[in-house]
Parts: sequence; C-alpha cells; structure tokens
Amino acid sequence: MPSKDKLMEVEDLKVRFFTYEGIVKAIDGVDLEVFNGETLGIVGETGSGKSVTTYAMMALVPPPGKIVKGRVIYNIHGRPMVLTKMDEESIRKIRGSEISRIFQEPKAALNPVYRVGDQVAEAIIIHRKEEMFKRAFKSISEEIKKVKGLRKPLLSLQRSVVKSVLDKPESILLKIILKIPLLRKLYWAPLKREARFEVEKLLGLLGIPDPHRVYDMYPHELSGGMQQRIVIATALSCNPRLLIADEPTTNLDVTVEAQILELMKKLKKDFGSTLLYITHDMGVIAEMSDRVAVMYAGAICEVADVYTIFKEPLHPYTKGLLEAIPMPGKELKAIPGTVPNLINPPTGCRFHPRCPYAMEKCSKYIPRLVEVKPSHKVACFLHHDQILESEEE
Ligand SMILES: Nc1ncnc2c1ncn2[C@@H]1O[C@H](COP(=O)(O)OP(=O)(O)O)[C@@H](O)[C@H]1O
Ligand code: SF4
Ligand SMILES: [Mg+2]
Repeated sequence: MPSKDKLMEVEDLKVRFFTYEGIVKAIDGVDLEVFNGETLGIVGETGSGKSVTTYAMMALVPPPGKIVKGRVIYNIHGRPMVLTKMDEESIRKIRGSEISRIFQEPKAALNPVYRVGDQVAEAIIIHRKEEMFKRAFKSISEEIKKVKGLRKPLLSLQRSVVKSVLDKPESILLKIILKIPLLRKLYWAPLKREARFEVEKLLGLLGIPDPHRVYDMYPHELSGGMQQRIVIATALSCNPRLLIADEPTTNLDVTVEAQILELMKKLKKDFGSTLLYITHDMGVIAEMSDRVAVMYAGAICEVADVYTIFKEPLHPYTKGLLEAIPMPGKELKAIPGTVPNLINPPTGCRFHPRCPYAMEKCSKYIPRLVEVKPSHKVACFLHHDQILESEEE
C-alpha cells in the first residue's frame, strides 16, 4: 500500500504560453499532491494540460511557456525543496537523479545516429559516474590479480587513472590526463565497460531478448515496442524516485501496449518508484492507477482513488469520459463538443459549454477543487458552492 507522505505538491500552478496568436492560458490554478509509492493517473482529452502540468513539475516548461504563478514542492527525505525557485544547475541534478520522464514519442526521444545502448549508457555515465568508477576500480583490481605479462602494467596504469579520478574528480592532473589520447582512453574504457554492463542488465530486466546484440543496434532497426523499452531504460537508468510516464503506449499496437503496461507495473514494484502515469484512455487508468486526477482545459476537475472514480464519479466530465469507454453491447456516448481554445477559454467553469448540467452561475464563477468526501475532491457547483477567485489578466 502506498504511504501517505507527500513526495510532491503542486500549489495553485498557472502556466501561460506567450504566442503570436495570443496568450494561451494552458494551466489555470492546478493543485495536486503525489504520495510516496503510489501510481497517480492523470487523465483527460488531448489538450487538457496533462503534459504541461508534469513538465512544470520538473520545472521544464518549454518556451514560449512560463510558470506565472504557484509552486512545485518536492520532498527529499522529508526536506521540502521548492523546485520552481531553484537555479537551473540544481534543478538539473534533481531531474537526472530524482525525477525522470518517459516521453510520449520514442522516435523523438532517441537519436537516430547513435547506438541505442550507448544512449542509455550516456545517461548512466552522466548521473552515476562515481558509482561506475568505483565498480571499474574493483573490477580492474581483480583482473590485475589474474593477468600476466604486458597487460599487467597497462592495467596498473589504468587503475591509477581511475584512482586519481575517484580521489580528486576535479583535479588538474585529471584535466591533463583527458588531454592525452592514450590516457584519455584509459579513463573512458573502464567507465564505458561498466556502463555497458549496467545497460545490458537493464535491457534484460525490460524483457529485451539478447541485450548484448541489441546494445549495438540503431533505433531504426528496432520495432516501436522495443524502441519504447529503450526509452524506458533511459528513464530508469538513474533509479528515479519519481517516474513520469507521458502516454508511453499511445503509438503502440494493443498487444505491445499490454506488454508495456505489465512491464511498467513490474518495474515500479522492483524499483520502488512513485509513478505518475498520463493517458487519455480510461481503460489504461483502471489498469495502472491507485489514484486518479481528471484534467480538463488546464484545471483538475476531480481527484479520488481509482475505485471511487469508476464507481462514484462526481464531476460531469469524469462521467462523460466513463460513458465514452467502448464496451460490447453498450451504445458509445461521446462527450459533445471539443476541448476549448485556451487563448480565449470559456468564462466560469471551463466545462460549462459542454456540460449537460450547466447552471446560470457556471458561466460566471469558477468552481474551486474541494474535498467533498474523504480523499475525494471535485470542482463542480453540483457538489459545493465554493468559488475560486481568479485575478483579471
Ligand atoms: N508550445 C506550446 N505553445 C503554445 N501552446 C501550447 C504549447 N504546448 C502546449 N500548449 C497548450 O497548452 C495546453 C495543454 O497542452 P498539453 O499539456 O500538451 O495537453 P495534453 O498533454 O493534455 O494533451 C493546450 O491548450 C496546448 O495547446
Ligand atoms: S460547475 Fe457547472 S458547468 Fe461545471 S461541471 Fe459543474 S455543473 Fe457542469
Ligand atoms: Mg500530452
């Protein structure tokens, strides 16, 4: 069971995109909590703000986007850190070692001209360099005991280079070593060997057959499912505490999707990570989540545990998403209308033009996200009267 301590808190988050057409009010006052060890599903139609919200959680909103209000707090061992206030270098360290993202489109995430194994190894070398050097020192020391002849002094020299890196990673001597081709090779070779060992182990864990051969392949030589496994391997390579999976199965066929979902569940258990799983598919939400946040037009409209969302949904939008799940023998009811353009979003409750229960006040006031039952929050005037005061812009 997931514990109830908060790993991340998002408070009153607002994100704007400053485009030529106008200001896109992409995220408008999102409040969200992520608990340690849980899988939180974020669901909503395309354009609801799922990706942008989770980019903001990594302080990585792409330009012309900007976080204009709110805070993202990340708790490391009970110590809160405000990610939205940190400098770029500190946040980059957290992104690599603590929070990792599996991107929606494997083709965009992988570089076509590098071997896939090297791409995963690069992430390991960046984020776990010291660990890799320590392992290299150990394995060279063991090898020295076994070999004879000319290899022995060469390995001793290599061990000295590794030792000097471990003792003084920023030393002038190291800078000199890196300028001399032979010594540079002695620096990189053991590091790459250890990283390769780690990558092949990881690829094996991800159910990739013959990891040793696949390591040397290029992305175009692999199927979509295999490519996505490589992207997942890269995201997992730094043992992240929080893994954000942004629609990782969208472009895969259903059998491969089922395999990847099973894999994600297994990995989450094995690695003990907290998972934020983004999808537009309610079926996938049911399969993956402990809790669910439903998003619409840049705001959270309902949050509850997965059982409650399916059995007792409160928000008309959540109900609409559930009625739109295809079922044998059931008439499919699509939600009428489309996600609004967020340059000029609807006034009041952003769902009101599509809502079958809309009342007069729904177009005038924004409903606040309120806990109406234990651990069940909803932003809808059918369930409470609390208004979210919004500043004019
Ligand atoms: N680079 C961008 N420029 C302008 N608007 C953007 C950009 N990226 C996202 N948006 C807008 O932000 C809103 C939320 O997008 P997004 O988070 O990608 O939705 P989702 O992931 O739920 O499909 C949308 O209205 C989208 O048009
Ligand atoms: S606040 Fe009004 S428009 Fe919005 S979902 Fe509730 S009933 Fe519908
Ligand atoms: Mg998205």
